[in-house]
Amino acid sequence: MADTAILRARNAEFWAQAAPGWIRHADRQDTVGRPLGAAAMDWLRPQSGERILDVGCGCGGTTAELAAAVAPGGAAVGLDLAELMVAAARERFPDDRYPGIRFVAADIETLGVVPGAPFDAVYSRMTLMLLADPVAGCATIRRSLRPGGRLAATVFRDGSVNPWLPAAMLGAAPHVGVLPPLPLGDEPGPFSFAEPARVTRILTTAGFEAITIQPHDVTLHAPDEPDAVAEWLIELGPAGAAYRNTSPTGQASARSGAARLLERFRQPGTGYRLPAGHWFITAVTTG
Ligand SMILES: C[S@@+](CC[C@H](N)C(=O)[O-])C[C@H]1O[C@@H](n2cnc3c(N)ncnc32)[C@H](O)[C@@H]1O
Repeated sequence: MADTAILRARNAEFWAQAAPGWIRHADRQDTVGRPLGAAAMDWLRPQSGERILDVGCGCGGTTAELAAAVAPGGAAVGLDLAELMVAAARERFPDDRYPGIRFVAADIETLGVVPGAPFDAVYSRMTLMLLADPVAGCATIRRSLRPGGRLAATVFRDGSVNPWLPAAMLGAAPHVGVLPPLPLGDEPGPFSFAEPARVTRILTTAGFEAITIQPHDVTLHAPDEPDAVAEWLIELGPAGAAYRNTSPTGQASARSGAARLLERFRQPGTGYRLPAGHWFITAVTTG
């Protein structure tokens, strides 16, 4: 496995480059991606007046959901590494329309505590497996929670239960330029939390207790728009930056390459059904 400093720099560069695609598709991500965090949101049961942190908030859709749930009198802080996404989140969900909402651009691994701590709860959708040093990131989360605070997170399991995830990249890759390095072994990436014993080890070392890790399978429903769905999935993944730097003809070939590999998830006239297998993780902190 590469050195942590190299992995951290690689992660920061990846998300800085991925940000324009995530911003462009933010509304679709909010609607189609909702099932990816629903179990964690249900378990968390945010209450009026609570202070909640959303780690890896992207363009802020889930932070806005949390802000609505803790109103009146609560606070929802969305934290993300990608400054462009945080700027987009502030624009999409301004605090005069979403009282108590705030966004912070920072790396969760290198903060002592998150500004606004202590929090009653932390929510994180599809982010913890991407951390270069997950123990450091989870330790920041633990330090930012009050004693008795709760964590609810989701992360992908492995590729076999998320077969659509690599499809867009594989279909686009022959038509675009060089892709960033793909993760090896336990290196940060979509499937680096596949092994639950490793997840338990990381959270225990970070100081969490009462850890539960349950498999949870959902289906993402996307409209029957092959070109738009292909572009959405290319732009969210590792081929996104290379795709944006490709000629319009190359981009069209990349979209048809991705659409071909995504065809098995499509029911013409109905739309796409993307099976997403994740771990639903909960934990608490005592001090
Ligand atoms: C897969 S996206 C998920 C975004 C959002 N939670 C969602 O489900 O739509 C992962 C997010 O985590 C952020 N991220 C990655 N590493 C991070 C870190 N070390 N600290 C804070 N945010 C990080 C990325 O910038 C990105 O927005």
